[in-house]
Amino acid sequence: MLSYRHSFHAGNFADVLKHIVLIKILEHLRKKDKPFCCIDTHAGPGDYKLTSDYALKNKEFENGIARLWQQDNLPDSVACYINVIKSFNGSDALNRYPGSPLIIRHFLRTHDRLFLHELHSTEIDLLKTAIGNDRRIKVAYTDGLKAVISLLPPVQHRGMVLIDPSYEIKSDYPLVLDTLLQMYKRFPIGTYALWYPVVDRSRNQYLEKALKTSGIKNIQLFELGITADTQEHGMTASGMIVINPPWTLANELQQTLPWLASTLGLEGAGHYRIETLVNE
Ligand SMILES: C[S@@+](CC[C@H](N)C(=O)[O-])C[C@H]1O[C@@H](n2cnc3c(N)ncnc32)[C@H](O)[C@@H]1O
Repeated sequence: MLSYRHSFHAGNFADVLKHIVLIKILEHLRKKDKPFCCIDTHAGPGDYKLTSDYALKNKEFENGIARLWQQDNLPDSVACYINVIKSFNGSDALNRYPGSPLIIRHFLRTHDRLFLHELHSTEIDLLKTAIGNDRRIKVAYTDGLKAVISLLPPVQHRGMVLIDPSYEIKSDYPLVLDTLLQMYKRFPIGTYALWYPVVDRSRNQYLEKALKTSGIKNIQLFELGITADTQEHGMTASGMIVINPPWTLANELQQTLPWLASTLGLEGAGHYRIETLVNE
């Protein structure tokens, strides 16, 4: 039984980095006229009210999107991200946060396609409502890590897969790794963006080491932390591991991540990593 609800966390510092990277990949895909395909293995409900009881419980968005909302002189990729989030809010007030399904849809053109997967019985209904009737998008109440394999390679032969698990159980790490290997085998030119939390650093070390020796090429890692690693409970940092990233991504994030670490870091303890795990 899944218990994780992203509504408690929408717009937090982890979503900021995740969605900045997602937007950069989508902008890159849109540079060519040729249609692309996106697959979101863990879609969530899609649309979040920041005025809801969920969001207001821990107010995680306050040290995320809300801290960036009214700022001037943003790094370019943060400014693009804020513009996308603003387009979902009718006024200058920040009331609503779009999840990855709505962010991806924002970038779809007539012939681009999006496959969304969600396994939580409440979230799937919210997701269906958020998407409505859109012939470019398929929403499935199913295990995204299983379903994604048969969708690859996509008929468009270009596109990306976003893998954004909640890591509720320890076995999610080997499962994600195995799925990445299967996906890469079927579609080695695709872009894959895997989100990860830093809760217990040894799990991240396992994932990184396994990827380095996996045979998968061209892997970069981008991480943003708001406080130092700790043995106590709670997420101190999170990141995106990107296979076949846009060639401009690392340079863009060289401008963005130091700024985010100093803006969102708690008591000056923000930190970041930009690393090539495997060369092209
Ligand atoms: C971190 S949230 C997704 C957030 C979303 N990607 C975004 O950026 O807005 C993870 C979601 O995955 C769902 N989930 C967990 N395991 C899944 C699986 N095997 N297949 C599909 N969805 C799953 C959870 O119910 C949860 O809604």
